[in-house]
Amino acid sequence: MKRKDILGIADLTRAEINEILSTANVMRDMLDRSEKSSSLRGKNVTTLFYENSTRTRNSFETAAKNLGASTTGISVAASSVQKGESLVDTGKTLDALKTDVIVIRHSVAGSPRLLAGVVKASVINAGDGMNEHPSQALLDGLTAQRHFGNLSGKKVVIVGDIKHSRVARSDVRLFGMLGASVTVCAPYSLLPCGIDGLGCDVSTDFDKSIRGANIVIPLRVQRERIFGAYFSTQEEYHEYYGVTQKRLGLCADDYIVMHPGPINRGSEITGEVADGDKSMILEQVTNGVAVRMAMLDLLINGDNIL
Ligand code: CP
Repeated sequence: MKRKDILGIADLTRAEINEILSTANVMRDMLDRSEKSSSLRGKNVTTLFYENSTRTRNSFETAAKNLGASTTGISVAASSVQKGESLVDTGKTLDALKTDVIVIRHSVAGSPRLLAGVVKASVINAGDGMNEHPSQALLDGLTAQRHFGNLSGKKVVIVGDIKHSRVARSDVRLFGMLGASVTVCAPYSLLPCGIDGLGCDVSTDFDKSIRGANIVIPLRVQRERIFGAYFSTQEEYHEYYGVTQKRLGLCADDYIVMHPGPINRGSEITGEVADGDKSMILEQVTNGVAVRMAMLDLLINGDNIL
């Protein structure tokens, strides 16, 4: 791979996606054998998270350490951001500290691209507002590919708060590029205008959309981005859009359930489904480390990895 930054699935070619996923498969095998690599020895990876995270931040840090890099975690709440420092000045400071990669999560769409334009370090988007979450989409693609093999002809249904979801936007792009058909499903209030332009079908009828699905991806209601009412009650939302064991009976026989996390049991997914044998949620977490190892290694070492 010959690029400085990974800012969104929209920027990546099919060949780059294939390269990341095939490298991630090698990394996943390494994880299963509890092997480490020293391919990033002497390099530093900084995580700069302006929003909360459990999975993404920890897996980027674990991925960097598995490859021999050192890591620096900037806790924005305890940083000079609280004294009014801008994103650009924070980035230039991290450059002066000679970090090699900045992994950034920010509530404002476009922040990673702004940062990438002013720093020498590679920048990876770990989620920007309602725009993109490329590493999540790549780990979702890896999980689906490892389960099904070729995704051509597979039917993916993404249900829930599509409007506020960067995962939905990245997943629609990624699964489309991998040959799957994608339907996004939500109440009208949670469907963003123009989402069909990304190459998906759009529906408000979950019982219809889920018929014959191979991959069901519920998304939580993104309450941190919601100001006002988008549906009447939690109970009603769950009744029409919750992923339940009964509803999954409408899927293809070989269906799986994926969820980016964090999950809200009883809202977009029942505990029974989340913990059931068709749930790939924890497999996704492990694959997240493998994908992020691949992204870091390919960005820093190009084609000369492992
Ligand atoms: N899926 C995801 O981005 O999870 P975190 O918010 O815990 O990083």
